[in-house]
Amino acid sequence: MEYLEITGGNRLRGSVPIGGAKNAALPIMAASILVEGETVLHNVPDLADVRLMQTILGRLGVTAQRDDTGAMRLRVEDEMNVHAEYELVSKMRASVCVMGPLLAKRKRAQVSMPGGCAIGDRPIGLHIDGLKALGAEFELVNGDVLLRAKKLTAREIFLGGPFGSSVTATANVLMAATLADGRTIIESAACEPEIVDLAEYLNKCGAQIRGHGTPEIVVDGVDALKGAEHRVIPDRIEAGTFMIAAAITNGDLELEHARVEHMRAVVDQLRRVGVLIERAEKGISVSSSRRLEPVAITTQPYPGFPTDLQAQVMALLSLADGNSMITEKIFPDRFLHVAELNRMGARLRKEGPTVIVEGVKRLIGAPVMASDLRASAALILAGLIAKGKTRMQRVYHIDRGYERIEEKLVAVGADIVRRQAD
Ligand code: EPZ
Repeated sequence: MEYLEITGGNRLRGSVPIGGAKNAALPIMAASILVEGETVLHNVPDLADVRLMQTILGRLGVTAQRDDTGAMRLRVEDEMNVHAEYELVSKMRASVCVMGPLLAKRKRAQVSMPGGCAIGDRPIGLHIDGLKALGAEFELVNGDVLLRAKKLTAREIFLGGPFGSSVTATANVLMAATLADGRTIIESAACEPEIVDLAEYLNKCGAQIRGHGTPEIVVDGVDALKGAEHRVIPDRIEAGTFMIAAAITNGDLELEHARVEHMRAVVDQLRRVGVLIERAEKGISVSSSRRLEPVAITTQPYPGFPTDLQAQVMALLSLADGNSMITEKIFPDRFLHVAELNRMGARLRKEGPTVIVEGVKRLIGAPVMASDLRASAALILAGLIAKGKTRMQRVYHIDRGYERIEEKLVAVGADIVRRQAD
């Protein structure tokens, strides 16, 4: 079993290339089920989740391969199979994004109902209700969601849930509506940049989508979509993670390709903490040279502070000069990293969906266990500044969403190695 060994104390300096966004690439790859002809995607990150989506698409008759330039080429070869099985779906929730495209293009979708998740309760009722509103019949068969519809008919659909909008439910309904009869209006739609990127890809394929990036998306159904070429947006969560890496090590980094306009809430909060953030020639420059200020942060749907940076900013604030508060409004139980950070000397106290972060002067290296993708990023960040060595187990979590993270960190001065346990 692999683990990461991090020796803390080095200030990070230099330039980091930010890769394509995992949470844009995955739904766009699923959307290729809708189109005829070839889709060519550039800037698709080389991640475990992307490779898993390639496997799922392969089972569904879609070839998804990289050419020698690294571009991902996708083409529907066979439309017989409509079943995305538990064995694959249980490994990655984002595979639920094949549901809308299968239903719209192949009139049937059989997708395993995703099981439990480390970050908390993640129902898919909004996905199912949205697709039923377009005319699908729904059944639960042996743990599979079975949806059928001879023809989808456009509707006005309210997609707001108990925690606000849903990113992948918006993606599923948006994708299905592209081939529905008439005009669909999605209210309380997710506004994430990844949804905008998906809509822009679909419009290049001939879809008629407007209002993406706002809570009201309008889709005029068309008869068919044709493959297109598209470049996936940079990953704002990877960029945010490296911003915090610069801040926590009092370093100085330039994040190539990162876009300030996708990260306003993050930039705003980190500036309040005392981090210097400027637009730079190739992207964004981030530096810090002093003890950081405490703040109160609440995670929210975009354009609010992203839940996918909650764990990482908690690692940073654990070293601030005073008490901070972090409230998780999207996944109220997303706190498995708290106990692990406390093992490294942080002083974190959970009270319902809020964690009180009492700033300490230093963290100490320790053996820790990653529980999920973003928690593992937070433990690496804590290890970068901790006194001594940190050994993080269950490295497979970080490989799901960060491309070559230790290589990128070593290139700017970190002391981090991947080792095989005896
Ligand atoms: C997307 O997940 C991201 N994943 C997540 O990133 C991210 O944490 C999340 O959005 C929120 O920003 C991908 O894009 C592949 P939601 P998604 O549906 O779409 C509730 C990462 O680290 N809800 O927007 O599954 C839900 O329980 C991952 O890269 C319902 O109640 O999240 C949550 O509380 C982790 N019913 C809230 O809405 C539903 O039918 C937002 O979830 C659907 C969701």
